[in-house]
Amino acid sequence: MSTDPVAIHKHILYEASVQDTEVDLDLIDRMTQRASGKQALTLREDFSGTSLLACAWVDSDPEREAWGVDLHTPTLNWARKHRLPMLGDDAERVHLLEENVLTAQTPQVDVVAALNFSYMIFKQRSLLKSYFQSVYDSLTEKGVFVLDLFGGPHAQDVMKEKKRVPAGVDYKGTPYPDFTYVWDQTSFNAVTQEICCHIHFKGKKIIPIEKAFTYEWRLWSITEITDLLTEVGFVTVEPYFEGWDDEAETTDGQLKIRKKYENMLAWICYLSAVK
Ligand SMILES: C[S@@+](CC[C@H](N)C(=O)[O-])C[C@H]1O[C@@H](n2cnc3c(N)ncnc32)[C@H](O)[C@@H]1O
Repeated sequence: MSTDPVAIHKHILYEASVQDTEVDLDLIDRMTQRASGKQALTLREDFSGTSLLACAWVDSDPEREAWGVDLHTPTLNWARKHRLPMLGDDAERVHLLEENVLTAQTPQVDVVAALNFSYMIFKQRSLLKSYFQSVYDSLTEKGVFVLDLFGGPHAQDVMKEKKRVPAGVDYKGTPYPDFTYVWDQTSFNAVTQEICCHIHFKGKKIIPIEKAFTYEWRLWSITEITDLLTEVGFVTVEPYFEGWDDEAETTDGQLKIRKKYENMLAWICYLSAVK
């Protein structure tokens, strides 16, 4: 008996494909303990989209408070309707700001997170520097800025990468069937380091979404980012990478500070920049 494919909202498919707030919270806790020896209580999620990390943050401790900053009204409205209500009264501790991260004003926080490479939308050095400066200014003493980046030869290729995502339930409890996440790099300009990528969702059990998301970014290097963070005042910038499991022929899931790293075909790195 065949079942008709179901329509699942692209935000649900996106979260299931690329976000793991448990991993993020664990990493942020380790970074902030290392920076200040204290538990961080306040977080600003920049480019917050569905603001899943902001919600997970307040959910993780009754003393925690979060700000989410995004300039896209429909996405924030979706978060207000489908994510914040899951927190009940605790939703009061999540503040969503419909603003540009370059100019958003929030109280000083212990952590600012800019994940899934979103800051790469800033292609000019001066613009990225002014973003990093505003992050620095909005952090408390010994506060931590967490951001991620990707690289390796495959990052500069025109290529498609597919990942099977198993069936599950989203933050709200909405079930989704298994599907395929496709990361599609359609161009890379060697002169400007500009990269164009799309996310597609496919599979027999869902109504496919072609170009669910499109990103026009500049592929920044770790050294460029580290130099800029240092220039705006961050005292230390440390890279966290997963190790390589020879037997399983995949990464080992152990994010650790690694000062030297083989330029594997493709890698993802998290930076912890401490004020
Ligand atoms: C890739 S999503 C990030 C979602 C989620 N935070 C994550 O970690 O996966 C990027 C988001 O950045 C937002 N965005 C892009 N430029 C922005 C800017 N200058 N200021 C605030 N938000 C911005 C978009 O509206 C979009 O929702």
